[in-house]
Amino acid sequence: MTDIVVRRLLIDLGTPFERRWNGGDAFRSAWFNALSLSFPVGEQFFIDSVRNGLKTLPEAERARFAAETQGFIGQEATHRRIHALFNAQLERQGCVNTIEKRAQRRIGRMEGWDPRHAVAQTAAVEHFTAMLAHWVLSTPEALEGAEPRLATLWRWHAAEETEHRSVAFDVYRAMGGDERWRARWMRLVTFFFVTDVTRQTVRNLWHDGALLRWSTWRSAARLLFGRHGLVRRTWKPWLAYFRPGFHPSQQESRLAEQWLRENGTQFTVVRSSP
Ligand SMILES: [Fe+2]
Ligand SMILES: [Fe+2]
Repeated sequence: MTDIVVRRLLIDLGTPFERRWNGGDAFRSAWFNALSLSFPVGEQFFIDSVRNGLKTLPEAERARFAAETQGFIGQEATHRRIHALFNAQLERQGCVNTIEKRAQRRIGRMEGWDPRHAVAQTAAVEHFTAMLAHWVLSTPEALEGAEPRLATLWRWHAAEETEHRSVAFDVYRAMGGDERWRARWMRLVTFFFVTDVTRQTVRNLWHDGALLRWSTWRSAARLLFGRHGLVRRTWKPWLAYFRPGFHPSQQESRLAEQWLRENGTQFTVVRSSP
């Protein structure tokens, strides 16, 4: 079982930052902003899903997952708070958050469903996030020239996503979650994730005045489809999720551990498992 530590990040998000905070690059800034705008609602959904999932388990099982799920909930709650501060700056810049409303509508439609569906969705998004995290930590180009405090924010989040990547998956298994539904939800989650983030990125770029610039789409091609781009680096771990013996702990975690070890001055430990 992993020791999931809750940390408080020591960065200032009260001071405004540049609209193109990510190396002056319109696309890279807009794309990371789109992700951040989806986090507060998404991470609350993950917390609620896992909490509701736990309630369906027998007492002994709940006790077995207690430390892991407390760490998971503590980390996601911290991410929500920090990204809400980041998003407040984006909103001050005039950014309009539409991804949140779409996600909220979708969550509302799940009222009364078997709680395993929400946990399967959470497990799928958590794998997605862990893939993104590994890409962020292994690809300097992703945050090249980014404002240092914001690069720290993204790398810290990436490291913690790596740490807690197995929790929702393990809870889903303990709930007797069906393997076909697990795969089905990954396909659906991928579709919604890609379309929602693309729509929000396009909106952010429109607001930035960079949507129709050649340089914007050149940067998009490099970030997403280039040699170190997201698609080339994540299609294999994405496919791995459909393998019968798959477990999130099989995914690489060395870079996350290294980042946490080398950046101890950027955070304080709030709580670690006994
Ligand atoms: Fe998170
Ligand atoms: Fe997460």
